[in-house]
Amino acid sequence: MRRISVIGVGYVGLTTGTCFADLGHQVTCVDVDEAKIEKLRAGIMPIYEPGLEEMVRRNAHAARLSFTTSYQEGLAEAEFVFIAVGTPQGSGGEADLKYVRSAAQSIAAAMTHPLIIVNKSTVPIGTGDWVADIVRRYQPRPIPFSVVSNPEFLREGSAINDFMHPDRIVLGSLDPEAAAQVAQLYLSLRAPIMITDLRTAEMIKYASNAFLATRISFINEIATMCEALGADVKEVAIGMGYDKRIGPDFLDAGIGFGGSCFPKDVQALAHMAAVHGCHPQLLRAVLEINRDQRRQVIHKLREVLGTLHDQVIGVLGLAFKPNTDDMREAPAVEIIHLLQSEGAHIRAYDPVAMVNAPLYLQDVTLCENAYEVAQGADALVIATEWNEFKHLSLPRLKEVMRKPVIIDGRNIYDPEQMKALGFIYRGMGRGYGS
Ligand code: UDX
Repeated sequence: MRRISVIGVGYVGLTTGTCFADLGHQVTCVDVDEAKIEKLRAGIMPIYEPGLEEMVRRNAHAARLSFTTSYQEGLAEAEFVFIAVGTPQGSGGEADLKYVRSAAQSIAAAMTHPLIIVNKSTVPIGTGDWVADIVRRYQPRPIPFSVVSNPEFLREGSAINDFMHPDRIVLGSLDPEAAAQVAQLYLSLRAPIMITDLRTAEMIKYASNAFLATRISFINEIATMCEALGADVKEVAIGMGYDKRIGPDFLDAGIGFGGSCFPKDVQALAHMAAVHGCHPQLLRAVLEINRDQRRQVIHKLREVLGTLHDQVIGVLGLAFKPNTDDMREAPAVEIIHLLQSEGAHIRAYDPVAMVNAPLYLQDVTLCENAYEVAQGADALVIATEWNEFKHLSLPRLKEVMRKPVIIDGRNIYDPEQMKALGFIYRGMGRGYGS
């Protein structure tokens, strides 16, 4: 059992802290947001993540997991302190490090004994050195510490499973002994552990996310060609995926990637590259293709309906992907804004994200379920591939719609079957049959 403090109770911090507690460590989570800490103490989650609530309750009950707003209290006995605060996007595409800076300053002010400071937040290359510098400057008296970069690879919606069954653990530090100590925390997970230097570890995180985003934009570009040339991108992806060098994952064409990581991280990497005199042409194309995917939905609707002015468009799914309530950079939000600028009226529903909808959308009729969205709609757009949308009664949907038009932004339906049911159906990249 080791003593760990985690700064920040967002997706990454709360999942990391809770999972470490579940592995038997003693964890204190620190956050400056009093309301969030109060709620967590009462067993109420600030985010939706499957399985998290139960795991928090169980470990809090076993006194392995506690929550505080006080750095003094959080660091009192800690051997490791994980920084897992947000790194939002700055106005120029760069990562904004204000929360990392204030976490480092607060750690420096509160630490009373040697610590290993582990950075989990996705931060620009070189931030580890910068954090060390801040801690050194803000300590009231010199106390030894080391900085380790330990990027997270957690996906929202499957964060607990990803923590417990990682493909790899990446650790970077100028102090190999500190990295080895952090490695000990993960030993029971039996995952490959890579120890490298700080900057390389930080780059591994950006390069991994940028590569995955590139795969998505690549298949989306192929999808556009498939439509023009009469091929089916779903089949193309299956055929490509059998090649072991390519693999089947992350080849789903659609309205593109969203969420709190891919768009922001690709932007930040492109920004860093440009600042350092590199020309990130591939990354720029990845972002541009991603933007175009959203616009394609509008083009498809115009092609079928003509003008969108005063048309009623139903949107199914608001979260950036299934199994999360997160609407950050969600394709649905951008699509709805584009439709509204064309004068369309929007009805929408999401199984989980409805609570967040008012933060991102205005003048949208929020409905109780998919059938209510379809009521009187001139077209439906599938924006998130929630399971419940895959099992809708399509004849019932068609019956209540004004026009039987479906733009399937996530390719969840079969074009042939939709045609047989009498829908005017458009998938993404499904030239054959749609
Ligand atoms: C991602 C990374 O996977 C994770 O390792 C990192 O730490 C954080 O960012 P997350 O943002 O939770 O995780 O979502 P992910 O499941 O990776 O999906 C990202 C986006 O890509 C979603 O909008 C999804 O719809 C889209 N996507 C994914 C596709 O459009 N096609 C695919 O084939 C896969």
